[in-house]
Amino acid sequence: MATFTKISDEESPSISINAGHRIAKINDNIYGGFTEHMGRCIYGGIYDPDNPLSDENGFRKDVVAAIKELNVPVVRYPGGNFVATYHWLDGVGPRKNRPRRPELAWDSVESNEFGTDEFLKWCEVVGTEPYFALNFGTGTLDEALAWVEYCNSEKDTYYANLRRQNGREKPYKVKYWALGNEMWGPWQVEQMTKEDYAKKAYQWAKALKRYDPSLELILCGQDGCSTWDAHVLKECVKYDAHDLGGTGALVSMHSIHIYTASKDHLPNATAPRSAERAIEITGGLIDLARIENKVPPSVPRQTICFDEWNVWDPARAPGEQGAEEQYTLSDALAVAVWLNVFVRQARHVGMANIAQSVNVIAPLMTTERGLWKQPTWYPLLLFSRYMRGHSVAVNVRCGEYAGPTQPEWIRGTVETPWLDVSAAVTESGMVSLAVVNVHDERGFDVDLEGVKKGEVNVFTVTGSGVGAVNMEDIEAVGLKESTWDGEGKFTFPKHSFTMLRWRA
Ligand code: AHR
Repeated sequence: MATFTKISDEESPSISINAGHRIAKINDNIYGGFTEHMGRCIYGGIYDPDNPLSDENGFRKDVVAAIKELNVPVVRYPGGNFVATYHWLDGVGPRKNRPRRPELAWDSVESNEFGTDEFLKWCEVVGTEPYFALNFGTGTLDEALAWVEYCNSEKDTYYANLRRQNGREKPYKVKYWALGNEMWGPWQVEQMTKEDYAKKAYQWAKALKRYDPSLELILCGQDGCSTWDAHVLKECVKYDAHDLGGTGALVSMHSIHIYTASKDHLPNATAPRSAERAIEITGGLIDLARIENKVPPSVPRQTICFDEWNVWDPARAPGEQGAEEQYTLSDALAVAVWLNVFVRQARHVGMANIAQSVNVIAPLMTTERGLWKQPTWYPLLLFSRYMRGHSVAVNVRCGEYAGPTQPEWIRGTVETPWLDVSAAVTESGMVSLAVVNVHDERGFDVDLEGVKKGEVNVFTVTGSGVGAVNMEDIEAVGLKESTWDGEGKFTFPKHSFTMLRWRA
């Protein structure tokens, strides 16, 4: 949580941090990823069997190493919009028998060469937890139950035995399952009304939890500030005695998606502030549903699963063409603001997944020869590495950007300070302060109250201008490391992201 005191641009800014004032535990799962059968994310991204850079499974070793470096705790699969026509049985068993199918979401052909067992094996190699989305488009409840059985059952039953026959004795124990994806969207195969979705989600949840009470089910919300969200939460966040052996909560999380973008730097960098308000509103809707439905306090409070977030302009990088966004320094600053939002709102966020992990609107790009990192990689790396533990209280005194915003409703609803800040303290007492200076023309000399004198590690991400981009052989936006003695004012350079770290 951060509070903001607005001052004029002529006054001297300050940030005060109190590492003793812990606000909320930061769920490690906010650093989650997402791999969809879309563009070059799976094929040519994580799976590239004919490339010498791949291992015996066909997994790109350089990608595995990068995802490990990011310490990604959970990865969503297989979509996204792709899942609305996906039949998981097409993607298991001997490869020569797997059908090639027309793919409707991204107007392509799915070979099914990579499917459930390959993805779950990849998760084991990477050291991450899988999160599956269920087909609420052309899929059936029987098919969903069969998928859970295939992945998780230890019994002597048909689909558990099919898994054994396909070479995997031990169940995978997949915990996270989403009840559809963006079912409200006109682009979705079998788009639904909120009433129809809520009814179906509730019935599927009952059956899935009856089958396995340890599953964590995730509702399909919209953007957190819509009547869809309010209705679906009201109808599905209930105490249910059918959750045999579970807590009585059929659903654990409510998913929301937001992509931000603007061609102009300041609206672009401040746009993730809309996600902050969306999280607060969704948190309120969750509480409202619990209050109205008299959910007993023994049922753990549902959290938000922000399972698609990023900077993306689909007009600039269309999904049907692989959505290979070329990210700029401005986008990297936006991503840092996004991550500040998740840390500040740690109380509400149970999981967040950057969409996506490789090649498709991604921080990581592969070529046949290797991989390169977009500017957005660096804030993600620093947050995942250091912003763990608890979020802590900060107050920011500085001037505010007062121009146009994207979306427009940010202005008048949410503040847009020049310095966007969050802070965290780990169990071992390391404090991290994340500061994005979105101003593209001036740096700020800032009094930092609460920073310990002595050695402060400084990590800086910036570049020559907000439009700077990286390419296969050019790293115009990278990471610089230095130290500071904690004395006097600290200068946050123009258009930069800085992380300061010290022992409390
Ligand atoms: O991440 C790309 C697409 O964006 C996903 O498939 C969909 O869920 C969203 O609209």
